[in-house]
Amino acid sequence: MATAFLTQHPLVHFRTISSHSFSKLRHSSTIIKSTTRMERTEEVSGQEQPRKVFVAGATGGTGRRVVEKLLESGFAVKAGVRDVEKARASFDENPCLEIVRAEVTEGDAKLAEAIGVDVEAVVCATGCRISWDLLGPWKVDNLGTVNLVEACRKVGIKRFILISSILVNGAAMGQIFNPAYIFLNVFGLTLIAKLQAEKHIRKSGINYTIIRPGGLKNDPPSGNIVMEPEDALYEGSISRDQVAEVAVGALVHPESSFKVVEIVSRTEAPKRPLKDLFSSIAQR
Ligand SMILES: NC(=O)c1ccc[n+]([C@@H]2O[C@H](COP(=O)([O-])OP(=O)(O)OC[C@H]3O[C@@H](n4cnc5c(N)ncnc54)[C@H](OP(=O)(O)O)[C@@H]3O)[C@@H](O)[C@H]2O)c1
Repeated sequence: MATAFLTQHPLVHFRTISSHSFSKLRHSSTIIKSTTRMERTEEVSGQEQPRKVFVAGATGGTGRRVVEKLLESGFAVKAGVRDVEKARASFDENPCLEIVRAEVTEGDAKLAEAIGVDVEAVVCATGCRISWDLLGPWKVDNLGTVNLVEACRKVGIKRFILISSILVNGAAMGQIFNPAYIFLNVFGLTLIAKLQAEKHIRKSGINYTIIRPGGLKNDPPSGNIVMEPEDALYEGSISRDQVAEVAVGALVHPESSFKVVEIVSRTEAPKRPLKDLFSSIAQR
């Protein structure tokens, strides 16, 4: 039942970031470099300066793709990473890309400094890496995200996109015996930690879009995006490329405001514009 989700999760399988995604990013950076400043600004709703977005967890499988897609779409990006030198070596230099240190467990004051005052929105693509620290997911997926939200409040950022997960509210959905729900909570209460962070965002007053994907795949999309309201999906998977597409789409389409959306990909699903998908989900 939940096999697809379970087998794709980093806590179930060790994964390595493929060199493919690095080279793809380099390619997209080249594209941005070859456009003029004027062309870039025109791509982003005719504003004088490209809008700048802070991406936390920018060196992760999904975060990296979010950075790539934002640059492709004409946004400027401030990439929040734990190891700046390592990140510099993996991202091509790009006038629209700035790399800053951002460790989400170090508190909101440092994060506020890292985010700065020139950013309009934050995308949180962090997720605790596999370790022996059973408190890790609580520190990163709950407290770390809460720190980011508080940092946004400090610097006056009004838009927050969170990559969460399907099944975070599995207990309320009657999915307490779902193997993915059990596994991800046995090892550090990962889903419960993510749900706590979601609750904090929803009470924060910041305009949020919480994106809950199914099991993440590095492969390119093999189907179309299916979007459902919160607590609807309990199985399925999706390409990280599509998750990045939805995250960037949320910044572009106001229909995503104050919403929680669950996404998977299905071959038999019709291809629908993101605007329509977001519109089909009610605010709660
Ligand atoms: N894998 C799945 O099947 C699945 C399914 C549903 C939802 N999700 C969720 O989707 C999100 C993205 O998943 P992913 O697999 O693409 O992520 P990932 O590749 O595991 O990357 C996680 C990112 O979080 C960063 N990070 C970890 N701890 C941090 C800390 N203390 N401070 C700052 N950054 C930190 C990592 O930094 P470093 O690069 O420095 O390690 C990395 O950039 C996660 O929240 C994940 O839980 C995953």
